[in-house]
Amino acid sequence: MQKISLIALGVLGLLWSCNKQTSSTTDEVKDSQSFADLAKAKIKHLSWDVTTDFDKKIIIGSAQYAFENNKATKLILDTEKLTIDSVVLANGQKTTFELGALDSIKGRALEIAIAETDTLVTVYYQTSPDANALQWLEPQQTNDKKHPFLLTQGQAILTRSYIPIQDTPGVRITYDATVKVPKDLMAVMSAVNPKVKTADGVYHFTMHQPLAPYLIALAVGDIVYQPIDERTGVYAEPGMLKAAAWELADMGKMVNAAEKLYGDYPWEQFDVLVLPPSFPFGGMENPRLTFATPTIIVGDRSLTNLVAHELAHSWSGNLVTNSTWDDFWVNEGFTVYFERRIMEEVEGKDYADMISVIGYQDLETSMRLIPEKYTSLKVDMTNANPDDAFSDVPYDKGYLFLKMLEERYGREKFDAFLKKYFAEHAFQSMTTEKFVAYMKANLTHGEDDFVQEWIYETGWPKGLKKPTSKLFDLAEKQFNQDIADHAAAKAPAKKDVKEKSTNEWVHYIRLIDPKKNTVSDLAYLDALYNFTNSHNPEIQCAWYEKAFLLKYDKVNGPAKDFLVHVGRRKFLEPLYYALKDSDQMPLALDIYKAARPNYHFVARNSLDSYLNFKP
Ligand code: BES
Ligand code: ZN
Repeated sequence: MQKISLIALGVLGLLWSCNKQTSSTTDEVKDSQSFADLAKAKIKHLSWDVTTDFDKKIIIGSAQYAFENNKATKLILDTEKLTIDSVVLANGQKTTFELGALDSIKGRALEIAIAETDTLVTVYYQTSPDANALQWLEPQQTNDKKHPFLLTQGQAILTRSYIPIQDTPGVRITYDATVKVPKDLMAVMSAVNPKVKTADGVYHFTMHQPLAPYLIALAVGDIVYQPIDERTGVYAEPGMLKAAAWELADMGKMVNAAEKLYGDYPWEQFDVLVLPPSFPFGGMENPRLTFATPTIIVGDRSLTNLVAHELAHSWSGNLVTNSTWDDFWVNEGFTVYFERRIMEEVEGKDYADMISVIGYQDLETSMRLIPEKYTSLKVDMTNANPDDAFSDVPYDKGYLFLKMLEERYGREKFDAFLKKYFAEHAFQSMTTEKFVAYMKANLTHGEDDFVQEWIYETGWPKGLKKPTSKLFDLAEKQFNQDIADHAAAKAPAKKDVKEKSTNEWVHYIRLIDPKKNTVSDLAYLDALYNFTNSHNPEIQCAWYEKAFLLKYDKVNGPAKDFLVHVGRRKFLEPLYYALKDSDQMPLALDIYKAARPNYHFVARNSLDSYLNFKP
């Protein structure tokens, strides 16, 4: 029964996309981040045939495209730092091509001469060793420290640095790939994946559901697999596999909970690849194979909402996809709402409440720090890099908007609305305006005066409801008690940090106010809980930030180790910001110089400009 409905959904998806195909040429949305002209020519399928060269740190091979041609005489692809060797038409003849002028955000347009009847071309090319999407890790930078590792990160506009492509979420393609890697390594993609290594290092992949190009992903390393149930499992380096599989043992339950809410899981398999620590994000929702940071493997399953988040993207983002990066909140706001609903189902309301409060606090920080123009849900990024607008606004303001709708119309009605929204727009892209129109027709029915303020205006909407958490109230009591004990000169008695979960500790530490509390308070709390030597990255990040701000220099050694070892941008930014804010630039630069080689391009790029660092 289950299988049949999955196949049916896949077929439906293809039908939908074909259906869209015929109408697509007239209603293309302009994506300012791409050179592609989708009304003229639009890619439908990619066949990728490449070798990963770990010595030269390049990917070399070919990309063949089947495309829909609306009387175009050129096919325009996005590229960044690629060397194009030749372009060949379906008849085997070479055709001419031109690489356009370099745009600092978009890269270069690759314009390929075609005839109005052409629907297939093959590009032979190679990447640059400093391709933005690619992170080539030395054995020393991996968990097991024995083999090198390669990972890709496509979102938002990095795929073009390793595959010439129409790199816009307004495009949807199926793909197949043949990837040749060193024999002792395994390759995995956002596609149907191997479970064991091949003898010859050659791997074949297919992804038969259409996805946006930013969701193509590849990882190569000493990777092994452990299934959790029939459709979920974990990939990781051998030394990490057992801990990762234990931490993520509830993945199957999460998929079931998600399906109960908003309909059948659309991608058949849901696996998570736990990466080496320099992966720049917490998670990346690559279809069939979420990429995840190892910083969630903390031994108590307290940070698994990250998996729920990437799973939720299987609907909001991967199935119904933001049309352009101006509509990014349509991916992330819906996903955060969905993530918290899954967690409420699997872990209970207290857990969901905690992550809602943490999210709200992060939103407050973002609202203070990012340019005002990026504090609306819908943004305009013409001539900007999508990364410049990146903040918690699309995530948590988006969440609060959907939560407001839930409370206004009731869960039952709102859930039915969302389920229908996903079903009716499956395998399509979504603009903010299209969503608003759909919402007006199917949910609000005219009473929608709040739309303008919530979606298009910057800053805080009026009448917004702040999330609360009972467990955090208790953590706050504990914090006040501990500070009072210190003031009363009570001797610190070592306590067991295990009595609270990660998020409770993060909240507790966030209560430290550098204007009120002192270095001596920090030393007291450290004597109680030994935060400085914690192995939990969330606790480490929260604690080192406060310690830097108050110049509690006992943390400097462990904090440097942390910053050199971990490349997750969410942890790097607050820590370097705290060093800068507390006039400790020499320390910041000393750490950054040692750590920078371990960071992915997206992390380096943000931090170089923040620290005014010229490599
Ligand atoms: N899709 C994002 C990561 C992303 C966003 C990469 C924009 C590049 C550009 C992913 O789903 C995400 O939001 N990850 C969060 C997880 C968290 C909200 C639970 C992260 O990485 O921290
Ligand atoms: Zn996300």
